Amino acid sequence: MKVLIATEKPFSKVAVDGIRKIVEGAGYEFATLEKYTSADELLAAVADADALIVRSDKVTREVVEAAKNLKIVVRAGAGFDNLDLAACTEKGIVAMNTPGQNSNAVAELALCFMIYMSRNQLTPGTGSELKGKTLGIQAYGNVGRLVASHARGFGMNIMAFDPFVPTEAMEAEGVIVAKTLEELYEKSHFISLHIPATEQTKNSIGYNLLSRMPKGGCLVNTARKEVINEEELIKVLREREDLKYITDVATANHAAIAEEFGKRVYGTPKKMGAETAEANVNAGLAAANQIVDFFTTGNKRFQVNK
Ligand code: 3PG
Repeated sequence: MKVLIATEKPFSKVAVDGIRKIVEGAGYEFATLEKYTSADELLAAVADADALIVRSDKVTREVVEAAKNLKIVVRAGAGFDNLDLAACTEKGIVAMNTPGQNSNAVAELALCFMIYMSRNQLTPGTGSELKGKTLGIQAYGNVGRLVASHARGFGMNIMAFDPFVPTEAMEAEGVIVAKTLEELYEKSHFISLHIPATEQTKNSIGYNLLSRMPKGGCLVNTARKEVINEEELIKVLREREDLKYITDVATANHAAIAEEFGKRVYGTPKKMGAETAEANVNAGLAAANQIVDFFTTGNKRFQVNK
């Protein structure tokens, strides 16, 4: 049985060593493909893998078809928009994620982004404080909840919108529940996005929502760049000179956006939400344990292609 880690953006050494220990401890063969630069390298590496651990690496239909022995693929992280689930299902491959394991890293980055933008990207000039401002959390899942809890420590008012979480559950945690998404945008100085990239959410954050934000509003995106309707975002930024936007990770057009809007926008060059030593270890080891558990007991708890 061979377990392959294929990561264009590698885990830390400590995480890789931990994964190796779990895999070899279970009696399986361990292999890595790190910092690969072409899809061909990935296609060759997966050829004899029985299990695959990835991060944001694209597991396309081509990859699935090249992986003749593959039985399980685990996305070490939350969002699994990089996996071709239909292709996995057709081939009888179990696809999983590791929910919650890197949430705190992303939540801390969201707070960091808010402060960074409130302080003019750490350049001279008068900034503002988070205290007393309203934070609107779009999607109250693992990350959204942590952002709420951290933001409370800064004295922010917390509002959230999530049609999949019962109102009482959010209220029990001191969150003001927005009845509509429009209300969330209308009442929030900061909007923090925690929605996955799906057919329904892609391009969904655009003019209608952003133009409703109060004066000085800031959109914080640690979710996925695909959920933003970039054309409409640019239109709002042109119309509203008070609005700000910060994103992990920047799109291909970001250089032009940054040039036009200067200190009102910022984008990380590479996605760094989950780039902490702790998140690497948590998500990487969870992925390895889930694989061993699947092979030894058949546990499919975190399967996402059911
Ligand atoms: C996730 O969905 O878990 C995060 O976006 C982390 O992605 P990464 O593993 O590519 O850093």
